Amino acid sequence: MSKPLARLLRREQVAFLGRDRRGWGEHLDRARAFLGEGLQAADPDRPVLILGAGPGLEVPWALAPPDTTGWDADPWSRAWTVLRHRRWPPWVFADLTGGLADLEATARRAVAEPWSGRRRDPEAAARRLAGLIPGLKPEPTALRAWIAEHRPGAILSANVMGQFGVVAERLVEAVFGHPPWETDLERPDPLAEALEAWLQRAISAYLLALADSGADLWLLHDRSVVFDDGPLVLGAWTDDWTRQLGGAGALEAADALAGVAVPSLLAGRGGRVTRAERWLWPVAPNQCHLVEALALRRLGPDL
Ligand SMILES: C[S@@+](CC[C@H](N)C(=O)[O-])C[C@H]1O[C@@H](n2cnc3c(N)ncnc32)[C@H](O)[C@@H]1O
Repeated sequence: MSKPLARLLRREQVAFLGRDRRGWGEHLDRARAFLGEGLQAADPDRPVLILGAGPGLEVPWALAPPDTTGWDADPWSRAWTVLRHRRWPPWVFADLTGGLADLEATARRAVAEPWSGRRRDPEAAARRLAGLIPGLKPEPTALRAWIAEHRPGAILSANVMGQFGVVAERLVEAVFGHPPWETDLERPDPLAEALEAWLQRAISAYLLALADSGADLWLLHDRSVVFDDGPLVLGAWTDDWTRQLGGAGALEAADALAGVAVPSLLAGRGGRVTRAERWLWPVAPNQCHLVEALALRRLGPDL
């Protein structure tokens, strides 16, 4: 992993932990209960993998079977986990999308001429990168290789998938030295659109790697970031999350998963969705995350 990327993840984590956590109680209780159920249901004789394990705020490590591995690209994530949980688990520090290194190298090629190092005009660089991103095919090869070697019985995806897009955006901004996005909302933004399509490919490839693992899957992620100017109401579960949201005031919801419908992508790949729930996580004034928790079990029909 490149130094800028490691630094960036570090900064994101500090920002995450530094937020005002007063409104987080219900989210943390529900996240820990969901992930804790996954850890307790896991076969204790088989390896377990926790993706996006981070500093362990949401992960009840005390319930994890002995052979549980954490995975997070933030270089400090394991140290924080050790301090918080007094446990020193094996860890993988690698990019889960498998595509960030290519994205970073491509952004560098777009920003400066590789032969002279001369920086291009920022608009020309943004157009160039928008044209190059469609050729990038993020593949989680490190994750697939780990799964093939260890054959985990359960995999928990602990609030990481919704971060893939944020990290990719920050990486592009860091290479440009400023946010290269179009600020006029009336005008198209080919770079933002290209990155959204990249994110869709990255998330789909990640989910397919999990589905192909044959493990029980416990998936927790931001489904959407919602901005509202009045109290939000969450209706009964519908596969289409946009229909579950309502409220007294105007609301705007940004899809954290670039339009990937997780249950339908996983449908028909073995296993059954045994838990599906969503809740609201207030992260800032007038801003909530819509969190989705999905369990996909591979066990017999008596479940
Ligand atoms: C919202 S935090 C998850 C918090 C964690 N579940 C906990 O219990 O504290 C998201 C985590 O995903 C990690 N992350 C984001 N993008 C990643 C990527 N592409 N590969 C690996 N880890 C990533 C970040 O370093 C961060 O620790």
